[in-house]
Amino acid sequence: MKIAVIGSNMVDLTSYITRMPVLGETLEAPDFSMGCGGKGANQAVAAAKYGADVLMMTKVGDDAFADNTIANFQKAGIDTKYVQKVPGVSSGVAPIFVDKSGQNSILIIKGANQYLLPKDIDDAEEDLKNCQLIILQLEISLETVYYAIDFGKKHGIPVLLNPAPATKELLIDKACQCDFFMPNETELAILTEMPVSTLDEVEAAAKSLVDRGLKNVIVTMGSHGSMWISKEGKHLVKPFKVNAIDTSGAGDAYIGCFACCYVQTGDILSSMKTASAFAALSVTKRGTQKSYPEKEDVLKLLKE
Ligand code: RIB
Ligand code: NA
Repeated sequence: MKIAVIGSNMVDLTSYITRMPVLGETLEAPDFSMGCGGKGANQAVAAAKYGADVLMMTKVGDDAFADNTIANFQKAGIDTKYVQKVPGVSSGVAPIFVDKSGQNSILIIKGANQYLLPKDIDDAEEDLKNCQLIILQLEISLETVYYAIDFGKKHGIPVLLNPAPATKELLIDKACQCDFFMPNETELAILTEMPVSTLDEVEAAAKSLVDRGLKNVIVTMGSHGSMWISKEGKHLVKPFKVNAIDTSGAGDAYIGCFACCYVQTGDILSSMKTASAFAALSVTKRGTQKSYPEKEDVLKLLKE
């Protein structure tokens, strides 16, 4: 059972702030930390940490960050055959701002991630063909995302699309070819132009996507849990109550763990529950990937 992540990697530059500076203002922030991030890489590491065999396809830059990123994948046991350096280009970076309540705002500079092209998917066809799930996000070019969706279809491989960061440019008809569509509530609001401030509103917005042909829409809602909507109906998975220190990368933690459990069991609802526990533990620690828990701690939380 192998999972392919075709997506981004970033270097997370996280500032822990008391508030955002206004224009023209210089403001001191209490703390800073650097770590490996990027939605694709985060999801790959989460899946691998929970026990999945993962192949990562991504591009790193021609800078001091690149070797560290590759070493980080290898430390997680991820296959890096298709992690390639792009000469003369910077690695992707993400300045992140985390406030006192642990909530985050993120800027991304895609850098080398923009150089991941359809041709790279063709070049990896023999290895990708043997994967049981393809995971995609939107931190690489849409052209490559669409090509990967078509590749999955051609080879009968299920595709999970995390439409993040959300863009109205995403063709919903293309997304309909995916088996799983997993936005957070902010992304759901952008994509549907519908309100999402209550569970009923989230349900209505997700339902509107199902009505447009999307198969399994799973919305991650942080401290409100997660919701799965399909033609068959609705399921709500309650959140685990934890003390939030840093929520950045929690959605990716959820998706990676979900993917791992899903390829192993085929059970969507139980995979959501496990993913919810995995993500909950990640918010109790600073950082994105470096906050992802060990499997035994997740199992312990699930038993409580
Ligand atoms: O989803 C969190 C991630 O978004 C961060 O790791 C950052 O790199 C951005 O890609
Ligand atoms: Na965290």
